[in-house]
Amino acid sequence: MTGYDAVDVIRTKRDGGQLDDGQIDWIIEAYTRRDVPDEQMSALLMAIFLNGLDGDELARWTAAMIGSGVRMDLSSVPFPTVDKHSTGGVGDKITLPLAPLVAACGAAVPQLSGRGLGHTGGTLDKLESIPGWRAAVPYEDYLEQLRTVGAVVCAAGDELAPADKLLYALRDVTGTVESIPLIASSIMSKKIAEGAGALVLDVKVGSGAFMKDVARARTLAETMVGLGAAHGVHTVALLTAMDAPLGRTAGNALEVAEAVEVLAGGGPPDVIELTLALAREMLTAAGLHDVDPAAALADGRAMDRWRAMIAAQGGDPDAELPTAPESETVRAERAGTVTGVDAYAVGVAAWRLGAGRARKEDPVSAVAGVVVHVRPGDRVEAGAPLFDLHTDDAVRIPRAREVIATAVEYDGATQPLPLVIDRIGA
Ligand code: URA
Repeated sequence: MTGYDAVDVIRTKRDGGQLDDGQIDWIIEAYTRRDVPDEQMSALLMAIFLNGLDGDELARWTAAMIGSGVRMDLSSVPFPTVDKHSTGGVGDKITLPLAPLVAACGAAVPQLSGRGLGHTGGTLDKLESIPGWRAAVPYEDYLEQLRTVGAVVCAAGDELAPADKLLYALRDVTGTVESIPLIASSIMSKKIAEGAGALVLDVKVGSGAFMKDVARARTLAETMVGLGAAHGVHTVALLTAMDAPLGRTAGNALEVAEAVEVLAGGGPPDVIELTLALAREMLTAAGLHDVDPAAALADGRAMDRWRAMIAAQGGDPDAELPTAPESETVRAERAGTVTGVDAYAVGVAAWRLGAGRARKEDPVSAVAGVVVHVRPGDRVEAGAPLFDLHTDDAVRIPRAREVIATAVEYDGATQPLPLVIDRIGA
């Protein structure tokens, strides 16, 4: 007998009251044990969605989610540890060059990652397009890879914030995803449990992101930075643009190829700029103030770490990446100056081509995706290529073409967002 009752907890939040520590600890624990059923947790999530959580409630809610599993111990890693988390965007392959780059500069990057859902891709899905590469890494191997290679990107096990796995799945089907306290506690419970000493958040803003406007993105960033600090994890956030896709590709193998281009000293300017901006933040947060990541990218040290990181998880860094059997080029119907390339439309097109999943259990295609030929500011003539659509299955092309047909804005008044919009944190 605990003395707590789910209906009382729901009523408190429904009526705009404050949950006390005991109520929060109990409901998270009992829900994770499956003693509180989904219908009661759904009602509570909706009450939180509508009435919010104040600072004390959110800190306790996040602590209870962390406490639903284990907090990793990285004390045997002889380097400062720092991770990056992106709130998700179209063409966001930055983790791929970033993790080995930061490792090459002397910090260790422990990244327990998830799979993509909806129109944004997941890092594990991208890496799985490399022949042989395995997302599952046993705990001892994970620590060893951090000690030797300095970077691991792998699947989070069931012991990492299990409450979040259950809550996230429930939010997905109850219309309660887009709540700042619920997003902040979901992300930060996993990242704090991961055990890194410092964390850099890339909070995306724009059509292709969760947060469509800068004000909400800033509130989310400030909330997460505060939660990190409360748990002793030095956390900073960059607000970055996701109105247009990042780089020139959206899709799993396509994005890996683009990341390898960046590691080889080429690649699109926006991907290079954001990789270096986040690397500088991560190195500073890890206490490595005098290291220049641009040098490690230029002289091939980051590429060496990439190769070691891929090989350590069974991947062949020299293997040819798979390519799509079917493709079609979408061309400009008129001449004009491109003033916008809608990230959301490109993300949905990649998803319809097979690069993303609608349900957690769905498989994804390694080869499906979109190559983007235009950027805001480009002048195009009628008939110029705008996008290449890649897929395993040609029947997917018409629906992708339909959504991408309106992705390009010509001669409009839209001002693209600056790539790095703001920085939050000390
Ligand atoms: N990513 C997460 O991990 N959780 C959320 O709630 C939203 C995005």
